Amino acid sequence: MTHAPRTPFAPGRFLFGGDYNPEQWSRAVREEDIALMRRAKVNTATIGVFSWALLEPREGEYDAAWLDEVIDDLAAAGIGFLLATPTASPPPWFTIAHPDALPIRADGTPVLHGSRDTYAISAPAYRSAARRIARFLGERYGRHPALRGWHIHNEYGTVDYGPHAERAFRDWLRRRYGDLDALNAAWSTAFWSQRYGAWQEILPPRQTQYLHNPAQLVDFKRFNSDEMLAAYVEQRDAIRATGSSAPMTTNFMLPTWNHLEQWSWSAQQDVVSIDHYLDTAGPDGEAHVAYGSDLTRSWSGGPWLLMEQNATGMRIGDRLATKQPDRMIRNSLGYIARGSQSSLFFQWRASAGGSESWHGALVPHAGSDSRAFEGVVALGEMLERIAEVAEPPADGPIVEASIGIVWDAEGWWSLETPHLPNDAISYPDEVRAAHRACWRDGHAVDFVRPLADASRYRLLVVPTLYALSEETARWLETYVEAGGLLVVTFATGLADERQRIALGGYPGMLRELLGVRGEQILPEPDDVALPLTGGLQGGTWSELLHAESAQVLHRYTSGPLDGLPAITRARRGAGSAVYVSTKLAQASLDELLGDLAREAGVLPVLEGAAALGVEAVRRRGAHADYLFLLHHGDRPVHVDGAGIELLTGSSDALRLEPGGVAVFRQLGGSLPATLRLAH
Ligand code: GLA
Repeated sequence: MTHAPRTPFAPGRFLFGGDYNPEQWSRAVREEDIALMRRAKVNTATIGVFSWALLEPREGEYDAAWLDEVIDDLAAAGIGFLLATPTASPPPWFTIAHPDALPIRADGTPVLHGSRDTYAISAPAYRSAARRIARFLGERYGRHPALRGWHIHNEYGTVDYGPHAERAFRDWLRRRYGDLDALNAAWSTAFWSQRYGAWQEILPPRQTQYLHNPAQLVDFKRFNSDEMLAAYVEQRDAIRATGSSAPMTTNFMLPTWNHLEQWSWSAQQDVVSIDHYLDTAGPDGEAHVAYGSDLTRSWSGGPWLLMEQNATGMRIGDRLATKQPDRMIRNSLGYIARGSQSSLFFQWRASAGGSESWHGALVPHAGSDSRAFEGVVALGEMLERIAEVAEPPADGPIVEASIGIVWDAEGWWSLETPHLPNDAISYPDEVRAAHRACWRDGHAVDFVRPLADASRYRLLVVPTLYALSEETARWLETYVEAGGLLVVTFATGLADERQRIALGGYPGMLRELLGVRGEQILPEPDDVALPLTGGLQGGTWSELLHAESAQVLHRYTSGPLDGLPAITRARRGAGSAVYVSTKLAQASLDELLGDLAREAGVLPVLEGAAALGVEAVRRRGAHADYLFLLHHGDRPVHVDGAGIELLTGSSDALRLEPGGVAVFRQLGGSLPATLRLAH
């Protein structure tokens, strides 16, 4: 299940810049763009993401003279480019020529042009048009010396429920199940008289009267991920066939989209990239940066690319929250500390028209005479000063972590099936809660694919993985037997990969390993707190649990479960497995995971930093380790003995101001840096 380690993506510098959409601007503005890019030391422009209508104004007629000119201007200024295939946004002529290739929503509504992403992924006309334009771009620009890489498509994730999806879904199901008996068994079609007697009877999970079949829903998710991956691979191969050897990626979208199974996708890319938009303007945004970075580094298995972030704002609900330059800089270095080889943004210049005119940009509407652009210039300067950090280590991880958190897209899909004991539970929220707890304690964390080698992790956390396979259950057992400390949180292992409940007591798939038997699940409304012994607090979910071979660590102290086990621990082989049967309040989860990490011998990156509000991350390089300090706290901190600080070039003790960042070169491994509040 693991894929061969890829050659680490090492462009020789941090890629700095972002989506560049010159087609929106006059020649005069484009000349200013180049001058400003040079001023800010921008070295990379992502071009072509939404250029289909200009590149192919009529079907089969290409016009790339304008793009030649853009690329010439960039290259003459020493600026490289990531070239996108524009297939996320087919032009209006495509709709008219191929009405069948538009997506259909689950309720049967056709989705027409007028926005973007109006394509049915399984429609042959769409797929061949996408291959054609990919090949055209490969032939024309694939060997250009300024080409830094290929950005295939943009954020795969448009789901179609129409006739093309129906056909392709059935083909996929035939490959998965072989015959209808196997499918009927896997989908539990004996319930509600859903038995299928012919393949033609099977539909995508379109609008229906009441609850969908959960196995059908999860299989449709699996199918879509595979189908979109096949579309990506076709474009990639079409470009490769033109002789272009530039690295290939496609930008994943975090945090809210869950259409792709990222581990299998990552195996097909030369470097994994994400678009990351903060979902809060508050301090938790810092934990969000770390979360997105750790996920992407883990998917990539090393260096990765931040393809998009917002330079000046965040869209929170129905309004814009402003991001000031110090935060933009701190966040950018936060991604880099955790393995990003870039600080790229959507977009270079704020649009004057179109649907996203109010999205942030490196050059705001006000122009370059602005605080925001000064911040961009400052960031460009900083990235040059830390350029040596971009050279990845010859071997070993770029960030060393002893804590692993299991990430499984299928876990998210299964938890989204309707009518579970508590439909309010969110997979990404639970994964993030576990990650946040480790982050607050100052630990480095990797995410782990089920069945991957987990032996380097002293602590492995499985947050709320509702459905899992026998193989995954065995894998967790092996991890524990070999001496690992496993923590499994509530609502894990209740069902198998067919969404069938494992009988005989909860959580059936892991009952033996955890040494418990749950006989009843008692979901709670979100505002009801469940006190536990030891001052911990649970809620949202609880279980009537019997500790069989497990020892009880904490008990419920009120309500119908008063005195019964809430958190348990079972020994197995050389290790042990902790089960948390309720959703712990964040502070309680912080405490529990912090204590278990210490017990497992896991040390924070820099002792004492987290308590001062300083995030410490160590990134390994080719010739040295680099300690990043990101100050999210509110009081100045005195730093001593951390090495040579690359932004200032000094090895003296320094005062790190709130909001500030420092990057230390640490020759000969980690140094005993000390931090204390400054006076
Ligand atoms: C996405 C897209 C961009 C842009 C940004 C901002 O991540 O890839 O094209 O739309 O969001 O909304």
